[in-house]
Amino acid sequence: MILQAKNIKKTFVTGEVSQDVLKGIDFELNEGEFVAIVGESGSGKSTLLYILAGIDSPSEGSVTLLGKRLDGLKDEELAAMRRKDFSFVYQFDNLVPNLTVYENITLPLMLDKRKEEEYKDDVEAVVKYLGIDNRLKSFPRQLSGGEQQRVAIARALVTSPKVIFLDEPTGSLDKERGRQVMELLKDINQHRGVALVMVTHSLAHAEYASRIVRMEDGVIAEA
Ligand SMILES: Nc1ncnc2c1ncn2[C@@H]1O[C@H](COP(=O)(O)OP(=O)(O)OP(=O)(O)O)[C@@H](O)[C@H]1O
Ligand SMILES: [Mg+2]
Repeated sequence: MILQAKNIKKTFVTGEVSQDVLKGIDFELNEGEFVAIVGESGSGKSTLLYILAGIDSPSEGSVTLLGKRLDGLKDEELAAMRRKDFSFVYQFDNLVPNLTVYENITLPLMLDKRKEEEYKDDVEAVVKYLGIDNRLKSFPRQLSGGEQQRVAIARALVTSPKVIFLDEPTGSLDKERGRQVMELLKDINQHRGVALVMVTHSLAHAEYASRIVRMEDGVIAEA
């Protein structure tokens, strides 16, 4: 098992209003699994994904990712895991606008102080595989939504992570582009053995996963 979350609760307090967004969630992920998390808007999907990936912390409960309890890690340790062991693709694109596609993709490797000659061939293979090898010198604003999403996925892949978390990776794409990204994710999962945890609104896209988890008002309704 590569991820285990136990009794996750999250309460957001805004002014005098407090909202229980996650109400005791247990979640497990096995090596090489592809899990889709579905549920209505506001049901807590993104909040859960952020907590599973250590981007946010739970009010209660624990997350153990790749053998490490996230609440016991120092910031630098978590940052190092994020650069090497797992990646996150955000709901709203988060490419750096003033870096080229190539610089965006290799950013985690540069931050990890890896030498370009060590990763160049690997990056070339990944961008070719994703069909963006002719866009490397472009800036994000010069790309279509589907291309930007593929750049974000390339950036998530070049570190050879064991897990990728994705929040609505097809949310801003038309039907055909969305289908292509899903085919790609399925291929990444099956042929590279990368475990995926993907939040999606689309039941059709959730069908690409090996397991579907449905959230309803802060709890898992169906595992
Ligand atoms: N940082 C925050 N501060 C206060 N409330 C928040 C915060 N983040 C999320 N919430 C609230 O938590 C609830 C769940 O939000 P979340 O983003 O997890 O939903 P979601 O299932 O991902 O929805 P969507 O499908 O629209 O992306 C919402 O009511 C939201 O307003
Ligand atoms: Mg969301």
